[in-house]
Amino acid sequence: MQNIKFYQDAVTKYLEGFATQREPVSLYNPINYILQLGGKRLRPVLTLMTAEAFNSDYTNALDAALSIEVFHNFSLIHDDIMDDAPLRRGQETVHEKWDINTGILSGDAMLIMAYQLFENYEPSVFQALAKLFSKTALEVCEGQQYDVDFEIRDDVTIQEYLKMIEYKTAVLVGAAMKMGAIVAKASEADQNGIYEFGKNLGIAFQLQDDYLDAFGDPKSFGKQVGGDIIENKKTYLYIKAVEFASEDNTLELQHLFSLTPPDPTDKIETAKQIFKSSGAADATRKEIENYTNKAFGVLETLNIPASKKEILKAFGLSLMHRNV
Ligand code: IPE
Ligand code: IPE
Ligand code: MG
Ligand code: MG
Ligand code: MG
Repeated sequence: MQNIKFYQDAVTKYLEGFATQREPVSLYNPINYILQLGGKRLRPVLTLMTAEAFNSDYTNALDAALSIEVFHNFSLIHDDIMDDAPLRRGQETVHEKWDINTGILSGDAMLIMAYQLFENYEPSVFQALAKLFSKTALEVCEGQQYDVDFEIRDDVTIQEYLKMIEYKTAVLVGAAMKMGAIVAKASEADQNGIYEFGKNLGIAFQLQDDYLDAFGDPKSFGKQVGGDIIENKKTYLYIKAVEFASEDNTLELQHLFSLTPPDPTDKIETAKQIFKSSGAADATRKEIENYTNKAFGVLETLNIPASKKEILKAFGLSLMHRNV
């Protein structure tokens, strides 16, 4: 097994061969734009690493890895429309640079391209990958719908929130890893185990995403800081702040999250301040750590050599301390 950078470079190189000029350019240029904006390439890297953890060569998993990354980027285009987001990876979002219709159709095409990449596998592997992918993609839609439904609710529970992020984000991280295990023909127990590892890491990852959305550095974050506050997202920060804050602060926060002011500066500042003073920010950091440790506990049970487990653990720890 190699270092993270090695797998990132392998993904980037493979992607270059995939994102070629095609017509109509108004369909394919936005696709190539988002795919080449960069990003951490977390999911495809995990696919490749998992294939090698189970004694296959990473090159066998490149199509599955690319499929996951193309699907992820499709979901980002549609997510940015739904969240009315102006910025992605430090650049204009697809629907801002082009328009909403372009974002919808280019996104649709990417979902199909993601499926097509499985055609490069033999029938039994193809079937296993496609089956996992369909289940996962439908769950992502369900999670995204909960996320939007929760914007206008003020009684979302932590349990509901955790289900929502499991679906919108964590299952894809789990599936990315399980695909590596499928390609490597790992045992069913190991396939399911690595899925659980990825899912718990994915929950920690989305908690961290929520944290950074409020407290990230606008210079490096690459997305609009405070975007979740503007959109009244019911994040872990918000739900815990409502639980922990004084009655006055709770009422203020609930009031702020029923509004969408034209200038959100004060709303963002007040919400962040209550997230901090209530202890919600610290509780979120703690929960990120809890889910990361839960993932590591699952990893212990898997049939992977200790040296490779250490590399996967180091990756999990680096995610916990990321600022992008
Ligand atoms: C953003 O994912 C969407 C979430 C599920 C939080 P990433 O943070 O992996 O985005 P990129 O691909 O690195 O830009
Ligand atoms: C996105 O969650 C999950 C999916 C794209 C499916 P977010 O809306 O929090 O992701 P970002 O913050 O825009 O990247
Ligand atoms: Mg979003
Ligand atoms: Mg969203
Ligand atoms: Mg987010």
